[in-house]
Amino acid sequence: MKKNIQIAIDGPAGAGKSTIAKIVAEKLSYTYIDTGAMYRALTLKALKEHIDLENAESVTNLLKETIIALKPSERGQLVFLDGQDVSKEIRSNEVTGNVSRVACHASMRKIMVEHQREMAEHGGVVMDGRDIGTAVLPNAELKIYMSATVAERARRRFEDNKQRGIESSIEKLKEEIALRDKLDSEREASPLVQAPDAIYLDTTDLSIQQAADEILKLVSERMA
Ligand code: C5P
Repeated sequence: MKKNIQIAIDGPAGAGKSTIAKIVAEKLSYTYIDTGAMYRALTLKALKEHIDLENAESVTNLLKETIIALKPSERGQLVFLDGQDVSKEIRSNEVTGNVSRVACHASMRKIMVEHQREMAEHGGVVMDGRDIGTAVLPNAELKIYMSATVAERARRRFEDNKQRGIESSIEKLKEEIALRDKLDSEREASPLVQAPDAIYLDTTDLSIQQAADEILKLVSERMA
């Protein structure tokens, strides 16, 4: 029986990846790694320092002098940028609206991916993002590609934002999600795409618990 496997969960914005990945990680006593939070933290710093987001070299150099750390806490995973807790700030509309422009640079991603691989090297991780199964952990024992309709994903983001105290409109969210899908899927560097060996999970009509149970079932099969 295998222990401490690597579980890769990819998919577009709002598919339920992070909520479901957290439940799966908790159930297995694994570490949850939210790679989107790392790109968001870098975007926050780039915006604060007025870095040209389209300039690959500037964005890459910025990452070289940045420390991004994810730390578990009772309030969930916290994100630290150069030692400062930015867990809330990285979810702002401004960061969300700009993160895909930062995340598209190949030279920056190379460094980010190395860091992510180190975090996962001992296994026992559930890592979510866009390129985990294809680029970060190509040998992960279990790969899931999770999606849902744009309308359902926008509805979930709306509820999520409401809980976080962020105002939003469903129509705007739909547009924002569709644009982010397009940028993430059409970029040259590690685009959002289903790995050939990933299992497709449509969460449109599934509750959070049902989706988590589906994954836990697959985990037991892989571990057997
Ligand atoms: O998952 P989340 O919506 O927080 O991700 C924010 C953005 O970070 C994505 O839209 C994408 O541009 C980028 N990202 C990425 N690769 C990952 C995770 C996120 O390019 N592995």
